[in-house]
Amino acid sequence: MKLSLISSVYSPSSSSFPIILRSSAFINLCKPFCSFSLPSSPSTPVNPKVPLFLRSPIYSTKLCDLKKWHDWAKGLALSIGSTFVHSDNGPDPSILCRELKWLMEDAVEDHSMFSKMGLENIDERVNMRVGVEELYDMWKERIEERRPFQYVVGCEHWRDLVLSVQEGVLIPRPETEVIVDFVSDAVSKNEDLRSGVWADLGTGSGALAIGVGRVLGIGGRVIATDLSPVAFAVAAYNVQRYCSQDKIEVREGSWFEPLKDMEGKLAGLVSNPPYIPSKEISGLQAEVGRHEPRVALDGGIDGMDALLHLCDGAALFLKPGGFFAFETNGEQQCRVLVDYMKNNRSGSLCNFKIVTDFAGIERFVIGFHR
Ligand SMILES: C[S@@+](CC[C@H](N)C(=O)[O-])C[C@H]1O[C@@H](n2cnc3c(N)ncnc32)[C@H](O)[C@@H]1O
Repeated sequence: MKLSLISSVYSPSSSSFPIILRSSAFINLCKPFCSFSLPSSPSTPVNPKVPLFLRSPIYSTKLCDLKKWHDWAKGLALSIGSTFVHSDNGPDPSILCRELKWLMEDAVEDHSMFSKMGLENIDERVNMRVGVEELYDMWKERIEERRPFQYVVGCEHWRDLVLSVQEGVLIPRPETEVIVDFVSDAVSKNEDLRSGVWADLGTGSGALAIGVGRVLGIGGRVIATDLSPVAFAVAAYNVQRYCSQDKIEVREGSWFEPLKDMEGKLAGLVSNPPYIPSKEISGLQAEVGRHEPRVALDGGIDGMDALLHLCDGAALFLKPGGFFAFETNGEQQCRVLVDYMKNNRSGSLCNFKIVTDFAGIERFVIGFHR
């Protein structure tokens, strides 16, 4: 089930890169359940940042100072007018004001204080997860530098998860959520797939790996890989927050390279790889192009580099009857991918299907190993 409120639109002006949504209703259900220690990594360890809503409320601010900040922040948001919309289809003031509300909710411990903010002489103090001076900096970064809201607060809502994100890790998109439904559908009809080993290649925040892990049965496992040390660390942190470390293993490395022990053994393979054509990166919305990692976006000249590599790997690494699902940039990439598989991998891969996203755009290619 999806619990989204529409938030910042990060879709680029020049491609159909998906839109970001946020839901905030269930934030308190998503507190961490496990303590965290990073699994051993071959590269320099990265310390994942704790999302704002999980930080301790160790700051205290006068309600009148919080109100002063809020009025200033709202004024800044309104002053943008349609500037961002016109420049790169960026957020308008209504979206920014909604984010401001969410920022307040993440920063302030007791939400009942909000109703007192309109009152005169509000000397009462509020417990906060961040100092009010830092709130000024956070909001300036959001508006003046177009830093994505999700990086400002350090999390994104995705399906029923609240995932930690930070610079260096792609913010998971709502479009990608449906891949978990494809897997859920496939495993509901096949016990062998339900209890098998799956891979999520280019896991980023670990969104797909955690989502897939939750629909597998007893014995079912997921191996999540990523080339980026930041993604590796953040995915491992998210896996641990959801106490899924028994089911999900995060490995650092390029595509199938960390999966050498799994040749011909995978029950399933999912991936949302980088697929934006290189020349389109400069036209992306500022939040995406300036702040999200290029390694998560750039799919080479036609955006197909990783997707074609993943097809070749699926033929080699899936076991007979194994399932795969790949996200693409849209109709053209779906068709190129299916043609490639028909012409080059039909000896091992079959039952290809192109599936649309919730906007009706042909977005996914799914299929099976023979
Ligand atoms: C579009 S992002 C998707 C992230 C995540 N799966 C999601 O849907 O939110 C692509 C991911 O692929 C990773 N990546 C890029 N090149 C890679 C490679 N050669 N091997 C493994 N991962 C790679 C990036 O670091 C990034 O995390």
